Amino acid sequence: MTTLLINIKELIQVRETSIKKVSGAEMNVLPTIKNAFLLLENDTILDFGLMKNLSVSADKTIDCTGKMILPTWCDSHTHIVYAGNREQEFVDRINGLSYEEIANNGGGILNSAKKLQETSEEDLYKQSSVRLEEVMQLGTGAVEIKSGYGLTVDAELKMLRVIKKLRENYNLPIKATFLGAHAFPAEYKNNKEGYINLIINEMLPKIAEENLAEFIDAFCETGYFSVEDTDRILEAGKKYGLTPKVHVNQFTTIGGVQVSVKHDALSVDHLEVMNADDIKTLKGTNTMPVALPSCSYFLSIPYTPARDILNADLPLALATDFNPGSTPSGNMNFVVATACIKMKMTPEEAINAATINGAYAMNLSDEVGSITKGKKANFIITKEILSYGAIPYNFGSVLIDSVFINGKAI
Ligand code: NIG
Ligand code: FE
Repeated sequence: MTTLLINIKELIQVRETSIKKVSGAEMNVLPTIKNAFLLLENDTILDFGLMKNLSVSADKTIDCTGKMILPTWCDSHTHIVYAGNREQEFVDRINGLSYEEIANNGGGILNSAKKLQETSEEDLYKQSSVRLEEVMQLGTGAVEIKSGYGLTVDAELKMLRVIKKLRENYNLPIKATFLGAHAFPAEYKNNKEGYINLIINEMLPKIAEENLAEFIDAFCETGYFSVEDTDRILEAGKKYGLTPKVHVNQFTTIGGVQVSVKHDALSVDHLEVMNADDIKTLKGTNTMPVALPSCSYFLSIPYTPARDILNADLPLALATDFNPGSTPSGNMNFVVATACIKMKMTPEEAINAATINGAYAMNLSDEVGSITKGKKANFIITKEILSYGAIPYNFGSVLIDSVFINGKAI
């Protein structure tokens, strides 16, 4: 079955040859073809080019006059699988409590863990699939999902099985990350060693046996997992073949970037606070820095210093961090807009960060993230817009006409 999209006002993020990521000044270059066609064969991109060079017909033709096409968003950092919500904590923060104070009072991650432990696997799947369908409608065509709201052997496995079931039932690429090291459960408050041993000796072997995760994460932060804890956990994860992707530098810079790079992490995520050494450490590595601007927005904390990162010739990816505490939103359109408005990224840099670099941060650069022959036909058709700058400019609007996953409109 072939599908031909014609009269595309602008075909965005066209890469003739498959690239893994873009860095530094290259990020300000977003290759496009104006007045283009795009040809699909089943679920794959077969060809594209200028309308005037179009010489083939197809089983089905779609006219895109006035509309643009870009690859679907690649959201490399989410916690979409969770139970219930934390609206009360949101109100508590409005009334003056800090995120940290709420967590210290037994709220925060432990609040979500309690809810998740009490929720059945079926119910958790149902709640999570609603969120996944919502973000797909918002243009996300590849997504990473973390565990980390279980914090017991059974509940962590329950979360990862839900992620597996989502992967089986939805046809977009879904990557699973084991985040047992998200917070210390109350019963281990005075026995941190005991919880780390539980992660290493009980959780990891079971996860590996059922093949439930590809990545390992830890919340490396003051009051959560120290650099030494993170070091042990990443090391143990690697023994089971899991690649590190790590929460670092959200509130404090304690050496999270350095320990992640030591373990050749695929990404370091958050980075709201960065010092000169953190930036220097990332140079010349394979580790993708990932910014989560809607988390900064929701918690009123600093934005990741994108300009410093790009000026150092580093790459940068953008993701949502969709979770019930710090970012109850999975809208990548808003992430792209906020990166432009608050982090001074250009539309070209933000779109590169949310597509090809997001794909890299999930090990998916060969499958998604650009309009390239042989890649998956996962793309967004926009509404009629004047330029792609409208996507960040009209922040809060969704300028999507339709979303295609594996060559089919969803
Ligand atoms: O990435 N920072 C750590 N974890 C999540 C939020 C956890 C929560 O508040 O539930 C994050 O922001
Ligand atoms: Fe997160």
